[in-house]
Amino acid sequence: MRCAVFASGSGSNFQALIDRQKSADLHVDFAVLIANNSRAFACQRARSNGIPVEHLPPTHFAHERSYAAKLAELLGRYRVEMIALAGYMKKIPPQIVGEYRHRMLNIHPGLLPAFGGRGLYGKHVHRAVLDYGAKISGVTIHFVDEEYDHGPVVIQKVVDVLDDDTPQSLAERVLELEHAYYWRAVEAVAQQRITVKGRRVIGQI
Ligand code: GRF
Repeated sequence: MRCAVFASGSGSNFQALIDRQKSADLHVDFAVLIANNSRAFACQRARSNGIPVEHLPPTHFAHERSYAAKLAELLGRYRVEMIALAGYMKKIPPQIVGEYRHRMLNIHPGLLPAFGGRGLYGKHVHRAVLDYGAKISGVTIHFVDEEYDHGPVVIQKVVDVLDDDTPQSLAERVLELEHAYYWRAVEAVAQQRITVKGRRVIGQI
């Protein structure tokens, strides 16, 4: 399948996907990287791996409608069949969500439905977990729907919260899990091994 990756930042998850594709564990073609920020390190990772980059800042568009139309045009032009959001900080317009339903994945550095939703991303998630006093955290990989951090769950994995954890140390351990598992969800979608019944994602991952 032709897979687009959307990223806003460092793109270490994107790199982990590229590495798995190179080692032939993951069978997708990376059609394009879409970034809202041209300075994102993810753009360099794409270029050094021969993956086209499209810089698309939503703020350049007067209406969400025109942003969605441009996105749809790009996804069509690159013949994109599935999408992996990898640290993408912008909301995906509902038209695109509908078009790629159950073919668009997101990765969240916490155990949804706790510690998710608008404003809960990156360090904010880990700080919220520590402030709450939760004893576990982890990663959630889920399909994207019209609400933030809400679609059907594909994979969840857990880490213990340690007594001396800081947001940084917790982020590092969760990121290891992210890198270890995101490709599995992407592969399961690409190989059409999973189906969605209501909120339940069923099949071999
Ligand atoms: C990850 O923690 C991911 O869960 C979240 O954004 C972060 C992206 O990190 N959605 P990176 O850019 O892949 O290093």
